[in-house]
Amino acid sequence: MAFVYSQLFVTPRIPPAASLTGQTAIITGSNVGLGKEAARHLTALGCTKVILAVRNTTAGEDARKDILASTGVPPHTLEVWSLDLADYGSVKRFAKRAESELQRIDILLENAGIATDKFALSEGHERTVTVNVVSTFLLAFLLLPKLKETAKKFAVKPRLSIVSSEVHAWTKFAEWKQPSIFPALDDEATANMQERYMTSKLLEVLAIRQFAPKLAGTGVILNYLNPGLCHSELGRDAGWSLYLLKMALARSTEVGSRTLVCAAVAGEESQGKYMHDGKVDESALSPFVRSQDGEEAGRKVWGELKGILEGVQKGVTEGF
Ligand SMILES: NC(=O)c1ccc[n+]([C@@H]2O[C@H](COP(=O)([O-])OP(=O)(O)OC[C@H]3O[C@@H](n4cnc5c(N)ncnc54)[C@H](OP(=O)(O)O)[C@@H]3O)[C@@H](O)[C@H]2O)c1
Repeated sequence: MAFVYSQLFVTPRIPPAASLTGQTAIITGSNVGLGKEAARHLTALGCTKVILAVRNTTAGEDARKDILASTGVPPHTLEVWSLDLADYGSVKRFAKRAESELQRIDILLENAGIATDKFALSEGHERTVTVNVVSTFLLAFLLLPKLKETAKKFAVKPRLSIVSSEVHAWTKFAEWKQPSIFPALDDEATANMQERYMTSKLLEVLAIRQFAPKLAGTGVILNYLNPGLCHSELGRDAGWSLYLLKMALARSTEVGSRTLVCAAVAGEESQGKYMHDGKVDESALSPFVRSQDGEEAGRKVWGELKGILEGVQKGVTEGF
């Protein structure tokens, strides 16, 4: 009922005083969907530089032109950079480039994601896990030093915002009781691909809750959010049932993107917190996440994820 109420009766709004003059933002998966509309908002709110981090740079250039035309900002405000979250090499190259070419990062909005029921491997893990979870955290860790540096150098509070979803509550997540979670998710023979997208969103939530306290005192704000059901390209192959649900209940892409902007401009009150309908609301987290089992599962997920990230780049998760 809470889901239907939000979808039908709540219209998230961007805080009226929000201004991002002088700030630099990176938005992953911003050639279409929520990411593109969020990029349009962040540009209109005055960001000096907005990086569209996309796997298809031709589509990224089209998005850039569209945003430039609708906002009228100088062309150099928007840049299209290549980032493929299915390829750790691409994530590392992107982070290196950001480290060397950007003076500051005020907003890292990790929005890119996939929803598919087809099993495939990328970088040795099931593709949804690689894109939505492992590479999302890899990018966060690779760029956190720059966010921390920005906080210190410019006396600001950079935001790391991760786009999650209320569907984190809609999975049984049986894998958490296996001896090791990630190998269980990567086993094609047993993979529950009907639940996989939802499980990937739960993995994000569990890992963020373990990691967020470690950022205290760094000056960086980490929050995560639920945009609600929105029109976008997500679930493009999902069939009629999702199509009909969206027709009945979905927010427009623009309205949904406001929830991303709310997180990207949020203050200390959002540190480590879940945002729903554009506001901090931990009560909207699933009962499992808030339970003792959820805490135990979170510790297990975080321990394994940390090991995977250290395998990709030694030392990347240390020093926070
Ligand atoms: N729409 C909803 O109802 C809804 C609800 C809750 C949460 N969300 C979350 O919102 C976020 C944005 O989704 P959306 O609805 O806007 O979907 P979308 O329209 O499909 O956009 C997803 C974006 O992610 C990019 N992406 C996919 N795989 C990538 C990869 N390997 N490397 C880099 N970028 C990649 C896509 O690029 P391509 O165009 O090249 O594929 C696209 O730009 C996702 O994290 C999703 O889970 C959406």
